[in-house]
Amino acid sequence: MARLAMLVLIAAAGASGCLWRLFPEPYAVNTPVLHFLLGTSAGAPDAEALEQRIRVPEGFAVAVYADGLARPRFLGFTPAGDLLVSQPNDGRILLLERDANGDGRADGERVLLDGLAWPHGFDVHDGWLYVAQSESLVRIRFDAEGGEVHGPLETLAPLPEGVGHWYRNVRIGPDGRAYVTVGSSCNVCEEEDPRHATMLRFALDGSEEETVARGLRNAEGFDWQPVSGEIYATEAGRDFLGDDFPPEELNRIVPGGFYGWPYANGENVPDPDFGEGNEAVIATALLPAHQFPAHTTPLGITFLRDSSWPEDYRHAALVALHGSWNRNRKQGYEVVSLHWKEDGRIEERAFLSGFLREDDVIGRPVDVAEGPDGAAYVSDDHAGAIYRVYPGEGEGALRIASGPPSAAPAAVDPLAGLSERERRALVEEGAALFMQWECARCHDPERRAPGVVTLPLSNLAARWNVDGLEAFLARPRPPMPTFPLGEPERRALAVYLLAER
Ligand code: HEC
Repeated sequence: MARLAMLVLIAAAGASGCLWRLFPEPYAVNTPVLHFLLGTSAGAPDAEALEQRIRVPEGFAVAVYADGLARPRFLGFTPAGDLLVSQPNDGRILLLERDANGDGRADGERVLLDGLAWPHGFDVHDGWLYVAQSESLVRIRFDAEGGEVHGPLETLAPLPEGVGHWYRNVRIGPDGRAYVTVGSSCNVCEEEDPRHATMLRFALDGSEEETVARGLRNAEGFDWQPVSGEIYATEAGRDFLGDDFPPEELNRIVPGGFYGWPYANGENVPDPDFGEGNEAVIATALLPAHQFPAHTTPLGITFLRDSSWPEDYRHAALVALHGSWNRNRKQGYEVVSLHWKEDGRIEERAFLSGFLREDDVIGRPVDVAEGPDGAAYVSDDHAGAIYRVYPGEGEGALRIASGPPSAAPAAVDPLAGLSERERRALVEEGAALFMQWECARCHDPERRAPGVVTLPLSNLAARWNVDGLEAFLARPRPPMPTFPLGEPERRALAVYLLAER
């Protein structure tokens, strides 16, 4: 917490230019936050930005497939060719209708499944849609042809508490088992619940739970190599060890494997906080198959299976690097391709880049899916867009349509449903909690902790309602820390913030 209090806070992306350079490296924070704070998306890059900034390898073209989406995360195609997109913060899975008219854009968009609890990764298998919610694995009957779900949502298995790294993923393996990754509850710690920081495996009805791999800090993306059947998983390393350490990892997952966290980072370099005294455990840790630059945050990974890919890309993997926040100079913010060489080396190349220029960010890739058309689809939760990268060149290759602008939430009084009395009681309780948890040290310019640039909380009612703010406090976005608050306490804080700020 003392370290977190040192965090340099950035009030807006535009103001981030120099503030962060004043602080010691391990505590550097430099990431675009403006649109997150506004609860909007930045919007997809326009034709000019795409043309001037976004780069794909020779022989490929890129276009916006869908935009105006609120923070799209993981992707998956249905057998009918529709593209499903998770929106964890809205509790939804969206269905983007396949491009039947061939104009390069999804034909339509609708909510497939609503009211979920922080859904992230998902998979369609044998007439079911499996969804990894933050704290449970669920499934529902899914008719791919009709693009509809039927019947009740079945809870298959509970998952560990959704604190810290709460984005889960599920994929059905070639062995007909549901593989689930569960991130750690913290930046670096010894977990109380041994199911945190693992890959788990279940029978399709949620029974027969097994732990496939441990010591994986946050392995959101994984896929099976199409020929060998090996599982590869991305893993984001810990924070606050400086700009260039530790590397992020790609791990080849073997049953029973231990991958080092929290005792070691990268190629088993002992962790400065947890390494000492754990040399024997570290010696059993498996090394990464590949390392990405520090803090670049590899998320989704997809092996290319379609035979139409150029020879060089066949069975290559595309990995989305969401981009750094705990680093002075931003790094990542691109999709890379990994090519397995005959001598066993893995070569990394840029595949979709240009979202980061100097310090300016216009996109953050999250996941990659291969479409039935053999193109690659990339989600971007900063721009609120899905891109399509496909073979093609020259004139007409850039196809951009202007989707609807992201809707701004309506400004209504978020406390209208409360009586004067309830409101006063909650405001009072919330104010006390605000004091108790010292929220001011990061949020009040007058009462800040030394060395911290504060993020004033103002005009919250224009962007938040009580439920939304309560949910945000349950799972704040780093670098804001998570506080051990119960639901009633979060609600009181939300009412206080909305009434007073
Ligand atoms: C260590 C610093 C820190 C502390 C302590 C902290 N926050 Fe935050 N908070 C942040 C950061 C950083 C963000 C912005 C996160 C982002 O955009 O990625 C944030 C964002 C928020 C937001 C969203 C702001 C907006 O404009 O939409 C709210 C509300 C909030 N914090 C409330 C609280 C409350 C309530 C507490 C005390 C329980 C608290 N914070 C304690 C760092 C902190």
